Amino acid sequence: MFEHIERVPGDAILGLIEAFKKDTNPQKVDLGVGVYRDSQGNTPVMRAVKEAEARLLKNETTKTYIGSHGAPAYGEAVLPLVLGASSPVLEANRASATQSPGGTGALRLAADFVASQMPGKGIWVSDPTWPNHHGIFTSAGIKLHKYPYVDADNRLDFAGMLAALKKIPEGDVVVLHACCHNPTGFDLSNEQWQEVVEVLQDRKLLPLVDFAYQGFGEGLDEDAYGVRLLSEKLDEVIITSSCSKNFGIYCERTGCLIMVARNAEQMENVRSQVAIVARENYSNPPAHGGAIVSEILHDAELSAIWREELTEMRDRINTLRRDFVEALKPYGLDQKYACVAEQRGMFSYTGLTPEQVDRLRAEFGIYMVRSGRANVAGFSHENLPYLAKAIAMVNE
Ligand code: LMR
Repeated sequence: MFEHIERVPGDAILGLIEAFKKDTNPQKVDLGVGVYRDSQGNTPVMRAVKEAEARLLKNETTKTYIGSHGAPAYGEAVLPLVLGASSPVLEANRASATQSPGGTGALRLAADFVASQMPGKGIWVSDPTWPNHHGIFTSAGIKLHKYPYVDADNRLDFAGMLAALKKIPEGDVVVLHACCHNPTGFDLSNEQWQEVVEVLQDRKLLPLVDFAYQGFGEGLDEDAYGVRLLSEKLDEVIITSSCSKNFGIYCERTGCLIMVARNAEQMENVRSQVAIVARENYSNPPAHGGAIVSEILHDAELSAIWREELTEMRDRINTLRRDFVEALKPYGLDQKYACVAEQRGMFSYTGLTPEQVDRLRAEFGIYMVRSGRANVAGFSHENLPYLAKAIAMVNE
């Protein structure tokens, strides 16, 4: 029965983890998968998370199912984090939260919801986007299309994006990255978000906002500007939020599908359908990560520690971005890679070609995605001189 099954290459991003581990080069540098790294190259458990886990372990009384929407306390904590504490959307009971296995799980729920409740509607992703968007939406049976996002000179192509959005058929879904665009690191300004909202309104398009990096761009509230604007101005919005990165709980698979509807009545209708989608996928989400997040967000002291730690991570990344460009100055390459200091979040679309990326890996043990996407959190003040020299060599 299995004779006809062909072996396929593994996931290009996750495959880098294994390849990096096997590399024996003592100077190797991992700029692959999107996880935060400290100055020692570690991905530590955040202090607020450790403390929350200690409390949970002490107070936990059951491991029974938490329901298809997850723990209510988790949803109550995440909704104001994403939409704002005094959001009119929350006041009007227009938003529903469903805990999911990571941001990826939330995307899968969104995809299945669109496929079952909006049959025939297409979905539009930025070109480029996180490669897994393609797999998630097409495997749900949705027709995928692209809108331009980056121009030939590796800059945000906002004019091209807007022109393409204006031609999308009414009722289709448009995937937007709330902040820290993956893979490019090019984010929309507040003014650009306002223009996007107007087009979506005019064209009657449904935004699906992937919000995987809240707090890694400019700040928790600043990064939510687009999401909040869309939710307040439009009747319907889908948001997929992740706690993997900003709480550093990658392996606990903690995310949330937020559905914003026109009114409380329609929100309940939509919510009932999302419960079915979750039930058919995995029944109930895993509980632990959501419990950590709600323990932190419901406690003023832990929240303050968490916010401080998140600020440290963001500041470190933004400093490294600037220092990377500085390190390239002696090679006359600072202008060529100046975009790295302007981009935001964990990723930079460096402009390095696939051939240069291959050489960096083979000759220097420097690992990044072949598109030229580098995880900036993998930079450190120790490896910047080595990185700069290697980049200069592949530019000769
Ligand atoms: C990434 O893009 O590196 C992260 O979002 C991790 C992943 O699952 O791909």
